[in-house]
Amino acid sequence: MDNMQEAAMYITSRIGEEPVSIGMVLGSGLGGLADELEEAVAISYKDIPHFPVATVFGHKGRLVAGMLEGKRVLCMQGRFHYYEGYGMDQVVFPIQVMHALGIEQLLVTNAAGGVNESYKPGDLMLISDHIKMIADSPMRGPNYESLGERFFDMTNAYDKQLRVLAKEEAKKQDISLQEGVYMFFAGPSYETPAEIRAARTLGADAVGMSTVPEAIAASHMRMKVLGISCITNMASGILDQPLSHAEVMETGDQVKEAFTSLVRSVTKVWPV
Ligand code: 6GU
Repeated sequence: MDNMQEAAMYITSRIGEEPVSIGMVLGSGLGGLADELEEAVAISYKDIPHFPVATVFGHKGRLVAGMLEGKRVLCMQGRFHYYEGYGMDQVVFPIQVMHALGIEQLLVTNAAGGVNESYKPGDLMLISDHIKMIADSPMRGPNYESLGERFFDMTNAYDKQLRVLAKEEAKKQDISLQEGVYMFFAGPSYETPAEIRAARTLGADAVGMSTVPEAIAASHMRMKVLGISCITNMASGILDQPLSHAEVMETGDQVKEAFTSLVRSVTKVWPV
């Protein structure tokens, strides 16, 4: 608890007291958006008290505060993944710090594998709901009542109104936007074909290694969440080809423009 407050106080000392409207977790491919903020102030994770330190190459590992489409935002340029060895509590610590800063709205983006066979690489997908089958939870352990309830609701984890807005903006811009269920796998391996068939049977449309811990922590604190996945590749066993990180990065790069454009327009109309 004190750690969250200390981290938040340090961030405020760097970015100033002006309230931030939207927190953004920018996944692979979308990190560049943080470089486009106006009046930007960047803070390396390593400078923030109690922050975990990024381990993955190509992830910048910093917070960037600034203006985007008229809204004050705070972006995570690079996130912490469970597969890197962080505890779930560490993965969601930045979200709790955002909350300590007074942020009540959260955009979370990621790269994901397509499980729904009608999807194709390059599609964007609005997350309508998620599935997490592993037992570990970021809220496991003592509950901090000042953050949220011990047993908390996940019925509307991905805010309906924000999804409607996102669909409207996508339509205006002629960006095709799927909507579906994201299933969390711990990674770092991609799934097996059998796991993907199981995921589909369970109701998953996409699979990935992030976002769900953050969405759970945000729900605990009653923050509103909008989640968008970039389907960078089809999941294992769907196409007659192996999966590669290179393919994920390549598709992410190709979709970057449409993804950025959608995030900008949603930010513009985001009710705060
Ligand atoms: Cl196929 N699986 C997981 N877990 N994460 C991914 C992915 C697949 N494609 C991109 N990210």
